Amino acid sequence: MTSSVSSSVAPPAQSGGAPLHFIAISGSLRANSLNTGVVLTVSELCVAPVTMTVYGGLGSLPFFNQDVEESCPPPEVVELRELIAASDGVFISSPEYAHGTSGVLKNGLEWIVGGGELVDKPVAVVTASPAATGGDRAQAWLRETLEVMGADILPESMCIPVAGAKMSGGRVTEEATLQGLRDVLAAMARAAAVRAAGS
Ligand SMILES: Cc1cc2nc3c(=O)[nH]c(=O)nc-3n(C[C@H](O)[C@H](O)[C@H](O)COP(=O)(O)O)c2cc1C
Repeated sequence: MTSSVSSSVAPPAQSGGAPLHFIAISGSLRANSLNTGVVLTVSELCVAPVTMTVYGGLGSLPFFNQDVEESCPPPEVVELRELIAASDGVFISSPEYAHGTSGVLKNGLEWIVGGGELVDKPVAVVTASPAATGGDRAQAWLRETLEVMGADILPESMCIPVAGAKMSGGRVTEEATLQGLRDVLAAMARAAAVRAAGS
């Protein structure tokens, strides 16, 4: 399941005019997830010609199995791979569970290690947590995994501590955090535009 969301909050000149399309992934399946709220907020910060598709299929992916990958990747996996391959960048917001990222997100990443869809792809990593640490250990954990996958991890990636207090109605509303997310988005657009110009 995917959904496109259009913008109501306009950050300045994200791409310098080039059309760019991003994929956003929340690492949480929870209905009132803070991280899904972050992803939806960021998707709504995009202004044309920058667009973002929120990927909602993590929970439908089967558990990674190398035998299945080598013989016949499931259609849900093919869809995820194609979405990422066709995108100019990926925005990830992950919860921290037991000092790591979520199992569903790690499972999704395992399915795309072999295909190399994230190699050199600009990837923004955000972690949102009710804790004062902002999910910093999941952030470090995820960055290490993405690094070994060859992703171009943006230095602007951020932790959002005490995230519930910065959100209302399922969206980020606190201005400093919103500005941080605008900066992440702008950095992703800059990195994607540079990559597109070089290809
Ligand atoms: C099993 C479990 C383990 C957790 N471990 C951590 C943790 O290590 N660090 C942390 O900051 N929060 C931890 N939490 C709290 C989550 O950050 C919190 O539930 C958060 O809201 C989950 O993200 P979501 O709102 O996007 O679903 C844990 C929660 C659960 C249920």
